[in-house]
Amino acid sequence: MTTYDASFRVWRGDTGGGALRDFTVEVNEGEVVLDIIHRLQATQAPDLAVRWNCKAGKCGSCSAEINGRPRLMCMTRMSVFAREETVTVTPLRAFPVVRDLVTDVSFNYEKAREVPAFVPPKGVAAGEYRMRQIDVERSQEFRKCIECFLCQDTCHVVRDHEENKAAFAGPRFLMRVAELDMHPLDAADETGLDRRAGAQDEHGLGYCNITKCCTEVCPEHIKITDNALIPLKERVVDRKYDPLVWLGNKIGRR
Ligand code: SF4
Ligand code: F3S
Ligand code: FES
Repeated sequence: MTTYDASFRVWRGDTGGGALRDFTVEVNEGEVVLDIIHRLQATQAPDLAVRWNCKAGKCGSCSAEINGRPRLMCMTRMSVFAREETVTVTPLRAFPVVRDLVTDVSFNYEKAREVPAFVPPKGVAAGEYRMRQIDVERSQEFRKCIECFLCQDTCHVVRDHEENKAAFAGPRFLMRVAELDMHPLDAADETGLDRRAGAQDEHGLGYCNITKCCTEVCPEHIKITDNALIPLKERVVDRKYDPLVWLGNKIGRR
């Protein structure tokens, strides 16, 4: 087995501030960045705070920035870096630091709560729902989300603009709105809930200028922009400029 010493630079600190600290740490063949962080804890920095759980790319806990790019630490192989390269690990930039590599991601849970839930169709019992396979597959792509929030972290709308957070749900939750709006059995309309108007007015769809950075960092390879955000934008525009919808809205407002 090949072993070498790597240069690591890890952000250490808390809500009061912090700094990058340098470490030299052993790397073995086949290891991922999370292995190295664990070795640091075991040998040099026992109080280093890091969040992780599955070590299999499925729990979404070990999100951090590695050389400035949002990534899962457990899915980033050390072999992607040159041996002489310094590997810098910092906490997700878009969320407040708790300590070291752990951030407070409660922004995302607040945004999740703001998306109205699926409204079951009337007169169809649970277990009796029937959908075309193509609709099932569309939802299933979005359902692969592991809630790592890398997409939320990388989106420039909030990454450098704390002031946008109140008005913008972020790609993960706009994708959820898209999923529900495209769901053939969702009966939100019948309750007076307009998901498309909500996407634009309450969840900040207009802030997204389809830079696709969210799609690029998604570890589940979900085509967030192409399959959720752009179709949702098109559906919002269709509603706005459909003459029948326009007439209906006019009459409805009288
Ligand atoms: Fe993570 Fe992808 Fe889900 Fe965003 S959509 S939270 S990047 S798995
Ligand atoms: Fe942000 Fe993704 Fe749109 S990165 S700007 S939500 S395409
Ligand atoms: Fe679960 Fe990395 S530890 S995704």
